[in-house]
Amino acid sequence: MLKRWKIMRTKYVTTKLSNGQKIYQVDHPCCTATISEFGGQLLSFQDQQGEEWLWLSKSAIKDGSKAIRGGVPICWPWFGPNDDKTLPQHGYARLVNWALVSVEEDEFGVRLTLQPDFVNSKYEIYNLSLFMKIDLGTSLSIQLHTENISNFSVSFSQAIHTYLAVDDIKECSISGLNGCVYLDQLKNKISHQENDLVLSQWTDSIYSNVQNPLTLAHNGKTSKVIDGNGHDSVVIWNPWQDGARLLSDFDDLGYQNMICIEMANTATKTLAPRQSHTLTQIISIPKS
Ligand code: BG6
Repeated sequence: MLKRWKIMRTKYVTTKLSNGQKIYQVDHPCCTATISEFGGQLLSFQDQQGEEWLWLSKSAIKDGSKAIRGGVPICWPWFGPNDDKTLPQHGYARLVNWALVSVEEDEFGVRLTLQPDFVNSKYEIYNLSLFMKIDLGTSLSIQLHTENISNFSVSFSQAIHTYLAVDDIKECSISGLNGCVYLDQLKNKISHQENDLVLSQWTDSIYSNVQNPLTLAHNGKTSKVIDGNGHDSVVIWNPWQDGARLLSDFDDLGYQNMICIEMANTATKTLAPRQSHTLTQIISIPKS
């Protein structure tokens, strides 16, 4: 049973309608953000300086008919394609409305708890429950809490599929992956990462044993620190122009201004009855 609005009065969160969809708007002295009820998806996060941290496709479809391309989609209870090809890629969570369960706020930021409403959707999940905490302040933190509510062991996979905004992907580098083994999903080949990662083509790789935190640099200057917890892998994705052309909701040149860095459990994770698991991604700016 979903509970709604533990805190009715909030100073910083308002709701509005856009394309017929409900949007939660957060306007706090530390940041502004928008969250779509559909997908429980963070679409925008701007820091105190007004810098946008997330990329949202110019041609994203936001009418609830398909997952929104950009921001932070939630892949759950599976990552990638399902063996059953009639089921959607990356699971159901990004395809249903999420209820806002509670809002906590103070001078440091706003913390929202949301829960996917499978009961009122065409997707029903009986064995796992999920809620998400989004912490918005001078940094951005997202936690996914999964609990096995059945009497049997249940397996799942997941990702916090963050689309980070960058000025120019060709000037970016990611550190923290050096020495890691990765599966290049495009070539279906296992390789070792040597040096910092610099993207120059369509990239779709799953890195294992990643030493947190990762850093994203632009022209050699670190712009974001990306940390995580509870993950077995980090997914790096950029479709470049070739891949973007195959996606109707991805503008051809959009690849220049984004990179997906996703904290994930790409191998299935098994929970015993009543056991729970938390996956966390925290994005911050480097301490000077
Ligand atoms: C990434 C996957 O996480 O998401 C890619 O590794 C996939 O294989 C990409 O193409 C985008 O997926 P979708 O379903 O949002 O187009």
